[in-house]
Amino acid sequence: MFIIAATLVCLLPRVVHSLNNKVGKTPPLGWNTWKTCGEPTCGHDICNEAEIKSVANAMATNGLQELGYNYINLDDCWASTRKKSDQTLTWDTVRFPSGLPALISWLHQKGFKFGLYTSAGNQTCSSGGRKYPIPGSEGHYDLDAKTFAAWQVDYVKLDWCGDIKKDLAVGKQAHIDFAKAMNNSGRDMFLEVVAGYFFLWDEVPTVANSWRFCTDHHDDWKNTNVQMTCRLDQKAKVAGAPGGWPFMDMLITGGAGCVPFSKGPHCPGQTDEEYRTAFAMWSITQSPIIVASDVRNLTAVMQQTLLNQELVQLHQSTSTPPGKHLGYWACSEPLQCEIFGRKMNVASTSWMIVLLNHGKKQHNITLDWTLIGFDDSETADVYDVWNRSSIVGTNVSTSFTATVPSHGTIVVRIAKTSVNMAV
Ligand code: GLA
Repeated sequence: MFIIAATLVCLLPRVVHSLNNKVGKTPPLGWNTWKTCGEPTCGHDICNEAEIKSVANAMATNGLQELGYNYINLDDCWASTRKKSDQTLTWDTVRFPSGLPALISWLHQKGFKFGLYTSAGNQTCSSGGRKYPIPGSEGHYDLDAKTFAAWQVDYVKLDWCGDIKKDLAVGKQAHIDFAKAMNNSGRDMFLEVVAGYFFLWDEVPTVANSWRFCTDHHDDWKNTNVQMTCRLDQKAKVAGAPGGWPFMDMLITGGAGCVPFSKGPHCPGQTDEEYRTAFAMWSITQSPIIVASDVRNLTAVMQQTLLNQELVQLHQSTSTPPGKHLGYWACSEPLQCEIFGRKMNVASTSWMIVLLNHGKKQHNITLDWTLIGFDDSETADVYDVWNRSSIVGTNVSTSFTATVPSHGTIVVRIAKTSVNMAV
């Protein structure tokens, strides 16, 4: 009997703990308060209910909500203290005079979902310029998960700050415990973890719906490159799948409202080419797209990227695996010319391709048909995605070459000539 039981246990897949929710079947699309809100412009940490409502109102009319950007996520600095009577977290009543439940209900009525930040440790990562620290969830995981559920929160971002930060030995268990608390909260809430990947590695999809795996993303090209490199490094370690999404952190597309990492005076911190490149990479790899720039002011590059129907629809599609690095093109700056691609159909006859130039100079980058499994003899139609379906070429054979500006991308849909190009 013992031998049979032991054999059965060995045959069972090793599961740390299943985050037992039904959310996150597609990668989240939305907006986050961090880096956007505040006075003067470009100050972060300050966000209040009036600002959040003004962003939601803008998203409801500028096309973002219609395209699927439906999460509004309140980051750090919303909390005040814990009630003495029952230890429940309270919100900052100056910033949120109507209270979080009222704000959440207002957003729900507008068709949005609501995300809220907390930390696994005893303090959050920032005090938002205030003189006192903001309490994290340590010692109160069950209570906080139940409180968030009672407030009708839809998404929780779990950070890794406070005393716990120094105690790396507890990292894995803390994340598992928090996921258990989410399961027992009575509400299905999406769970994003900031540091969970570093404790759980391959097991992180069993504990969280999305996970960061790199530094914070800031509004500068060097840092955007770091995010892309991290994504390449961890590509084989965890499979993104419906319900679990590797997250390259917030996008700061257009830069409006941003806080440059250097704290320099420039907003925006990146060029339009660089913002397009970031958006192409976040969307083709199906990273959650949580925008942290001021979407109340949709500049031309924000419209071209955030509202790009082809890229956003493909980002939301789960019919093929996330896009990946397909290869390098040997341009004169070694390893600076890359090709990424995602199959758009199971038959692999249609692809979304990103030709990416990290280099300091403009380069020609060539996609050989063989890289995407087409025969040299086959012909394909090539459509320019940034410029919205203007035809780059029909019946193209053997390969496609484009001139790609420094730090820029050319994004094309490529389909065998007989294939219908509709997304
Ligand atoms: C950390 C996180 C950021 C943000 C801040 C808030 O740095 O990585 O995304 O949530 O904390 O303090």
